[in-house]
Amino acid sequence: MLNKRSLAQAPQRPLPKKLHIKTFGCQMNAYDSERMAEALEPQGYALTEDPAEADLVILNTCHIREKAAEKVYSELGRMRLVKESRRSEGRDTLIAVAGCVAQAEGAEIMARARVVDIVVGPQSYHRLPDLVAEASATGRGVVATDFPAEAKFAHLPERPRGKVQISAFVTVQEGCDKFCTFCVVPYTRGAEFSRAPSEIVAEVERLAGHGTREITLLGQNVNAYHGAGPDGRPWTLARLLRRLAEVPSIERLRYTTSHPLDMDEELIRLHGDAPKLMPYLHLPFQSGSDRMLKAMNRKHTAPEYEAVIGRVREARPDIALSTDIIVGFPGETDKDFEATLALAARARFAQAFSFMYSARAGTPAASLDGQVPEEVKRQRLHAVQSVLDGDRHAFDRATVGRRLKVLFERQGRKPGQIAGRSPYLQAVHVEGPEKLIGQIAAVDILATSPNSLTGVIKSGFEWREPVQAAV
Ligand code: 5AD
Ligand code: SF4
Repeated sequence: MLNKRSLAQAPQRPLPKKLHIKTFGCQMNAYDSERMAEALEPQGYALTEDPAEADLVILNTCHIREKAAEKVYSELGRMRLVKESRRSEGRDTLIAVAGCVAQAEGAEIMARARVVDIVVGPQSYHRLPDLVAEASATGRGVVATDFPAEAKFAHLPERPRGKVQISAFVTVQEGCDKFCTFCVVPYTRGAEFSRAPSEIVAEVERLAGHGTREITLLGQNVNAYHGAGPDGRPWTLARLLRRLAEVPSIERLRYTTSHPLDMDEELIRLHGDAPKLMPYLHLPFQSGSDRMLKAMNRKHTAPEYEAVIGRVREARPDIALSTDIIVGFPGETDKDFEATLALAARARFAQAFSFMYSARAGTPAASLDGQVPEEVKRQRLHAVQSVLDGDRHAFDRATVGRRLKVLFERQGRKPGQIAGRSPYLQAVHVEGPEKLIGQIAAVDILATSPNSLTGVIKSGFEWREPVQAAV
């Protein structure tokens, strides 16, 4: 029987509260959002899709281009209405801005959007429980945007809990020392930092034990990875990938984003040697003009970039290449832009992301002469995208009639459909049983549509129990 004394001694369970996270930007932000949810779970926060029922709303923001940053302020406008309506019902809502806008603008955000209670930069997520407690106790805004000396990864809780992630992201490297003149990343994410291989292996083994079959290693400059190995010597990304390939139930490995300069021989060779390393490489080239590449401080020329992808294709002839391109960098002439178009056409990318240059305050390129008019940028974007779309469709069409291994990740849009990814990261939809989710099956590709492939599961495919790794 409980008496007063035993009640007082019972462990205090935090009251259940709701947390809504809206994520903008890159995959690293998606990973960080999951980690923030996990850090707040012990405080009693459970995730909700609906901001109107949330006690705490986190906007995990992106600062890479102007449009991305502006989206945050319009979202904060919407959150102000939610907060006011909840307040009229006697309920409080804390609003936190996390991510790269938080890091870049700090306390400025509170001046511009008074609705914000917490501003937290990417290196301080492990402090979130304390920041939330402080903001709700004092009713005053709190800002945490230092780059602390201790690594945040060491302070975030172990994952995962809850739902199975068939394909999971794992951040292995963060920050960047390359200082491309257009880019805010070295300022918002800070200096390059690689996690220790032992930490990464443990995280991947835990995920594998919970049903994960595919891992994508994340880093702003992931192929510059150099985490301190068990012997104290740095491991390369290739070394890390080889170790992760030994985890039995991890069937697929990917990594993103890479810099051409760090595509070393060992990593290139691995694309030919390691069956678990998927034939897909995202390697931004930004511009086909050496003059622009120099002004961008990319530290390589266009022929050097093409030599790298040539070597990658030698190692793995069927590899799907993906890239990032910027049009309208300050000083870009028609001739420079034509060099970009020509390189794109020669490289035949399976996937590409192209952007109009967007001046970011504090970066060297923002104060360069020769800013290109918006209209010219728009025309160039249009022109390059039509080349890139053509190549993407050609790549997809070339897989029609082939048999590809597909890792099924979820139900499809229509009942009875399941969806997954090919080795080349193409979305594939088939008619199939739900029990195949989490499995790899051979699929005969029948047709392409603008954003996916459709096919049929090879007849005679037999479902097998998932292998569980020993953890
Ligand atoms: N303007 C336009 N595009 C940019 N990128 C990064 N900074 C800028 C900018 N200021 C693009 C680059 C990079 C991708 C993630 O975003 O192509 O590779
Ligand atoms: Fe930004 Fe990538 Fe250049 Fe680093 S290498 S500064 S993250 S574009």
